[in-house]
Amino acid sequence: MRNTKVAQADILTQPELKTRSEKLRLVESDTPFPMAPQKKCLEPISVGKLKTQQVYHGNFFELAASMPDQSVDIIIADPPYNASKGNSLSMESQALPGTGGAWKKIAEVWDDMTLDEYFAFTLSWLREARRLLKQTGSMWVHGTYHSAGITNVAMQMLQIEMINEVIWYKRNSFPNLAGRRLTASHETIIWAHRGGKREYRFNYEHSKSGDFLDDQLKAPGKQMRTVWDLPNNKPREELAYGKHPAQKPERLGRRLIQLSSGPGEVCLVPFAGVGSECVAAYREGLHYIGFETVAEYVDVARKRLDAAGVE
Ligand SMILES: C[S@@+](CC[C@H](N)C(=O)[O-])C[C@H]1O[C@@H](n2cnc3c(N)ncnc32)[C@H](O)[C@@H]1O
Repeated sequence: MRNTKVAQADILTQPELKTRSEKLRLVESDTPFPMAPQKKCLEPISVGKLKTQQVYHGNFFELAASMPDQSVDIIIADPPYNASKGNSLSMESQALPGTGGAWKKIAEVWDDMTLDEYFAFTLSWLREARRLLKQTGSMWVHGTYHSAGITNVAMQMLQIEMINEVIWYKRNSFPNLAGRRLTASHETIIWAHRGGKREYRFNYEHSKSGDFLDDQLKAPGKQMRTVWDLPNNKPREELAYGKHPAQKPERLGRRLIQLSSGPGEVCLVPFAGVGSECVAAYREGLHYIGFETVAEYVDVARKRLDAAGVE
């Protein structure tokens, strides 16, 4: 496995490539994507009745109930966006216009709720997430315009304080074939803490001076802004054991972790899918606990983690 810094440095010193963007395009299309060095595996620890370094097959609400209050340092939540084909975003179960776009439709049971069900679901899982998060901790919640507004309102109702809304700009998003609306090319990530005293960790120096070469919007040495340009392509390793229709690239989870937590801390991934955020946590030297209801995704996640070197 190659070291990111070395691999990127190799590319950036290639004399035949003149501009930074030419060099960055090569970093982006280099397959497999250069991976950062793996951190040594941590011995699992107990968090209530659960153990870290596990992706549990089961429902977040049931499994999280056995975890103590304020027991995790970072939560990366990629919940269902409720953007599935066939869903109804009306309280009266009538389809509302305007919820389409260039989204790859996910016809999955886990992503298909009525609006009132989805609102109740969002309030419930956020309330539980808030209970589990330490005062020094951070939660990061993914969404699109289908869901981010609901997350925002639910957070305000629960007095979870939003720190930033990040726009993840997806530079290679799929064009809008019908030509009837703009090409959707971003997702939203809400960064929040549990509310009350502001003790959340922010690795400010890293955010300013860290290595974010694959982000064409991040000026080296300058403060990080709230629009991030991160390629959504996944290298072969991330897809080797099976795919998920809403799979995130590992590099995104790693950035969230690098900004707001540190090695040895505990990362909770309530909706683990095929484990991208768990692998990200592992690679950054954190403990992780993941929950996922679909057995085949759990299987892929465990295989990925095994391949990454977790015992
Ligand atoms: C948007 S996907 C997460 C994808 C993940 N970020 C990845 O890269 O693989 C959401 C996942 O949450 C799972 N899910 C939905 N409701 C759940 C619940 N109550 N408890 C645990 N997992 C759940 C779904 O099966 C789905 O795989």
